[in-house]
Amino acid sequence: MEDKTMNPVPCGSRPLAPEVLKDGRRKILDIRNLDITFRTTAGPVHAIRGINIDLYQGQTVAIVGESGSGKSVTMRAAMGILAKNAVVNSGEILYNYRDNKGGIDYNPDEDNGAEWKSVDILKQDKKWIRSHINGRRMAMVFQDPMTSLDPTMNIGKQIMEGMIWHYHIAKEDAWNRSVQLLREVGITNPEKLMKEYPHQLSGGMRQRVVIAIALSSNPDLLICDEPTTALDVNIQAKILELIRKIQKERGISVIYITHDLGVVAKVADFVNVMYAGKIVETGTIDEIFYDPKHPYTWGLLSAMPDLDTSDPRLYTIPGSPPNLLHEKKGDAFAPRNKYALYIDDKLEPPMFRVSDTHYAATWLLDPRAPKVDMPEELKARIARMKADAEKLTGESIDAELEAKKKKAAACLKEGTDSESGEKQEDQEGR
Ligand SMILES: Nc1ncnc2c1ncn2[C@@H]1O[C@H](COP(=O)(O)OP(=O)(O)O)[C@@H](O)[C@H]1O
Ligand SMILES: [Mg+2]
Repeated sequence: MEDKTMNPVPCGSRPLAPEVLKDGRRKILDIRNLDITFRTTAGPVHAIRGINIDLYQGQTVAIVGESGSGKSVTMRAAMGILAKNAVVNSGEILYNYRDNKGGIDYNPDEDNGAEWKSVDILKQDKKWIRSHINGRRMAMVFQDPMTSLDPTMNIGKQIMEGMIWHYHIAKEDAWNRSVQLLREVGITNPEKLMKEYPHQLSGGMRQRVVIAIALSSNPDLLICDEPTTALDVNIQAKILELIRKIQKERGISVIYITHDLGVVAKVADFVNVMYAGKIVETGTIDEIFYDPKHPYTWGLLSAMPDLDTSDPRLYTIPGSPPNLLHEKKGDAFAPRNKYALYIDDKLEPPMFRVSDTHYAATWLLDPRAPKVDMPEELKARIARMKADAEKLTGESIDAELEAKKKKAAACLKEGTDSESGEKQEDQEGR
């Protein structure tokens, strides 16, 4: 069989993924060629520069990148809550949903005859988005729970509010559902907590409440924007676990935004690495962690704290992200990239195909480029990660990765016969 991985092909952008995967899951969010500029007194800030993101039912997709790379702006666009000075230069944000005629208990996975609809969020008016999508079909959890909670209202009221507004259910029903939700997010004395105010709770508890509020309208899609950044490490891990648990139990889709690649390993199926408003590498979690191709991803991986070595020095990517007020020719990452080629200063790299699910925008993947491999320390680190994974499963990780890759690729193809008929479980156990 031809091994395409050895010969990446420039492809402009990724080919369009199918509407329905081989395992029956449907694409619910499709961000295509999104390009956004902000008008500011200092001049136009070109914050999002032509990005593509697909999200299927039940999937967790992470967006990772340093601060200012455009993660939050992308998600605000998807929620229809862009700032007033934003200008959408091009793109579509297609959201596919089943009309929620069944009310609050509606299960989007059950085929109860409701039709699938598709809307371009960028073309809808704000009021329609607020009553049909935002907070109902899509819900967001932000970094700082204090800003999403109303300090003057007790927790109970804040959880019940959305359910009553969106679904017109009785107050008593809303109360019971809220207690149930608080239990689901791991709160042991929900009745008492319902009567308390945000300032009476710890940071971790507040974030659990925010997650309960997000879930209260039974959304299909949960967008978590750095939900653990303000919390201490122990609580972070618990909130991550909670999000993963909810995602599995409810079968909802999650978009997880973070600057910390270390967090992603615990939650995501797919990873998009963003730099200066572009996706510079995209792939399955395994492809990004075990076979990264972009020097920026190499930098992010090297910067993760490593528990295996006694070396306390933490790597940081030299330099800082570009000022988006001044657009430069060529690859935006070139000034910080010690592997930059001559062409990087002249021309932006296209997305090169590494596998059906893995693409990276770096000239290093051009067949004419000199052969450059990732730094030795990172190679050693990946070897350690693989060895750890093998210790856990007792099996060869390379064989497992190859099998997973085939399965993920087969899933993407429409109409081909493959072993991927059953529900995809390949990303589980992380
Ligand atoms: N309302 C705005 N006006 C001008 N610039 C903005 C606005 N919102 C975001 N930006 C700029 O867009 C870029 C991306 O921001 P953001 O998406 O918040 O980054 P992050 O990846 O940290 O979430 C940054 O350079 C930011 O300064
Ligand atoms: Mg942000």
